[in-house]
Amino acid sequence: MFLGTGYNTWGMTNGSLAGEIISSLILKKDNKYKDLMAPKRALNLSKLERLPSDIYGNIKAICKSTKNNVNNNKVINKVIKGKKVLIYIDENNNKHIVLNKCPHLKCGIVFNEIEKTWECLCHGSRFDIDGKLINGPSNFDITFK
Ligand code: FES
Repeated sequence: MFLGTGYNTWGMTNGSLAGEIISSLILKKDNKYKDLMAPKRALNLSKLERLPSDIYGNIKAICKSTKNNVNNNKVINKVIKGKKVLIYIDENNNKHIVLNKCPHLKCGIVFNEIEKTWECLCHGSRFDIDGKLINGPSNFDITFK
């Protein structure tokens, strides 16, 4: 039995790598990356060293998203039915309401005025003007119904 786990929020990259390694092992081929996923691999202390800067980066992204939306007078923060939402009012006065919480790891969302998309500054998920997922890492929409 082969098992890949512990991707530490890097599932798309490490999951793909694990798939490559496991398929090599099943076919009894060598894979130069196999030690990266070995169960007895050494504890990666560099992850601990990066932890403060990772936390700082995420807090900075959350603050930036809040500031961006406050400075954009076409985006309104509101609570509707107990949920935090963002409302973008377009040039035809149509309202586009989305949830202000990225489904990936719950960061705030900002509106990209040029692309007319909602974006998460933490890991780059993008959604169309009505909150439908364009690309991840999120797997879900931020539509509000
Ligand atoms: S929290 Fe990760 S993409 Fe939004």
